[in-house]
Amino acid sequence: MPELIPVLGKNEIQNIVAQVARKISYDYQNQELVLIGVLKGAFIFLSDLVRNLSIPVKVDFVGVSSYGSGTTSGGSIHLTKKVEIDLTNKDVLVIEDIVDTGLTLTYIVDYLKTLSPKNIKVCALLDKQERRRQTIKIDYTCHVVSEGFLVGYGLDYNENYRELSEVYHLKF
Ligand code: IMP
Ligand code: MG
Repeated sequence: MPELIPVLGKNEIQNIVAQVARKISYDYQNQELVLIGVLKGAFIFLSDLVRNLSIPVKVDFVGVSSYGSGTTSGGSIHLTKKVEIDLTNKDVLVIEDIVDTGLTLTYIVDYLKTLSPKNIKVCALLDKQERRRQTIKIDYTCHVVSEGFLVGYGLDYNENYRELSEVYHLKF
């Protein structure tokens, strides 16, 4: 059985989500902000984030398949769910659980650019810098980790562990 080593506890998560929500609420006052959650890993982070915002937002999702199964990127990325809200001239903030190689986020930002938004920024709960292959600007980073495979709070390993309230390092 793999071991679960605690990385972020409930209180820590609550604090970092509240803090990033304050920044976002301040930066996007009087804008038409659309949050785009990246399925499926970002669903818990996004749902906590919206409840901490003090500005109105719209919410949509994109689906991409990047990791097939296991802990390494499958290489080919494709869209499994398109955005349904009209993004023309909107401020768009992509909400991602974790940035690893950067390939998924680069693909998503390139796709979103084709939908003519006014502006696209990125918010990630976790920034894992060890295996970055594509330089990408993360405008709002909640927590930086150097390495390892993380699960919980939406993040999965082969679709398991998403329901955990805290973030853990999965040690094989
Ligand atoms: P990237 O394209 O390598 O940056 O991978 C990004 C995607 O892979 C994220 O959206 C996650 O869904 C998944 N991923 C990367 N690292 C982890 C991890 O440590 N735990 C769970 N999922 C991960
Ligand atoms: Mg993800």
